[in-house]
Amino acid sequence: MKLITIIGARPQFIKAAAVSREIAKHKDIKEIIVHTGQHFDANMSKIFFHQMQIPKPDYNLEINSLTHGAMTGRMIEKIEEVLLQEKPDWVLVYGDTNSTIAGSLAAKKLHIKVAHVEAGLRSFNRNMPEEINRILTDKISDILFCPTDTAVQNLQNEGIGKNSLTRIVKCGDVMQDAAIFYSNLAQKPDFELPEKFILSTIHRAENTDDPKRLVSIFNALTKISNDIPIILPLHPRTKKIISNSQLTTHNSQLIIIDPVGYLEMIYLLKNCSLIMTDSGGLQKEAFFFEKPCVTLRDETEWVELVDNGFNKIVGADENKIISGYQEMIQMKNNYNINLYGNGEASKKIITELMK
Ligand code: UD1
Ligand code: UDP
Repeated sequence: MKLITIIGARPQFIKAAAVSREIAKHKDIKEIIVHTGQHFDANMSKIFFHQMQIPKPDYNLEINSLTHGAMTGRMIEKIEEVLLQEKPDWVLVYGDTNSTIAGSLAAKKLHIKVAHVEAGLRSFNRNMPEEINRILTDKISDILFCPTDTAVQNLQNEGIGKNSLTRIVKCGDVMQDAAIFYSNLAQKPDFELPEKFILSTIHRAENTDDPKRLVSIFNALTKISNDIPIILPLHPRTKKIISNSQLTTHNSQLIIIDPVGYLEMIYLLKNCSLIMTDSGGLQKEAFFFEKPCVTLRDETEWVELVDNGFNKIVGADENKIISGYQEMIQMKNNYNINLYGNGEASKKIITELMK
């Protein structure tokens, strides 16, 4: 079986690392990796291939830093060329980025089967570019690999999976596979860490592109950092916006650093007291590493974390962020509950594709 994996953004490298590791166990599967180039800084791309031993991409399309239409359009064109040349049996796409929709659309137009990993997630906020990418990818995929029951239900509510040509498979979360596999390899970052700290990340377009929300988030983080240091590995998108704005981020306890590799991130996750983030992946990793989470968004796709008290949604309001922090830093929860499978999602995915 010939399979083409299409990836391009940081969280996709992490998800694909788990699945590629499983693929490598099967001599009868040939995996070809196409990196769209969407993320390109060394610490947003190369470091993950190196640390997680992901096979070097066979193609790098080097498409990035464009508007949504231009980026997606150029990716479709280039991915199509690769697909025409390689003629795979399956195209494997991950999550909800522009690389995801470009990969699935290019494949389906050529009648190539598409498998979508992390299918069925919904925020029900159609202003999010990710929501459009995931709805459309789910609509045209042949196999939909869902991490949770909620994801399966979301697809069924949309009538997906009704015909015999489409299969919905609940397989658990591949990010859990990665967290389990790489946990013991955690690496202390190359700087002195405070004894106690909050780990934070901010990159979601709805926060970075709305000056009111961004200012409010940074005001809250600055105030909270007077209580407890905050380590903020900053996404280049946010870094660019901040450096072009009047926003002041000077506070010795608000420690802004460049993005770190996955192994450093695991170390930070293991050693922090709380996560404050607008990342999708980090909300789950907070749970995997048994840390409370405050989500700086108005909704989440990972509703089971909120329903079980592991995560609190606070939006971008300064006071709500501060009270969310005060509540969740005290939180003592019982993490003995299985929400994302048992770390065998990748195995299930490959078994299903081999059928
Ligand atoms: C993308 C995904 C988002 C995902 C995030 C993961 C889409 C629509 N969005 O958002 O769902 O949560 O990745 O991190 O696909 N940049 C750099 N260096 C890099 C990468 C990006 O400077 O290595 C800059 C780009 O030049 C651009 C900005 O960051 O100006 C945004 O990059 P882009 O890939 O468009 O979207 P993300 O915000 O990274
Ligand atoms: N991550 C990382 N280094 C960082 C910030 C995040 O390795 O400096 C990892 C994080 O642990 C998680 C993934 O990147 O595994 C999440 O990606 P991101 O937040 O960029 O995207 P999202 O999950 O929101 O789509």
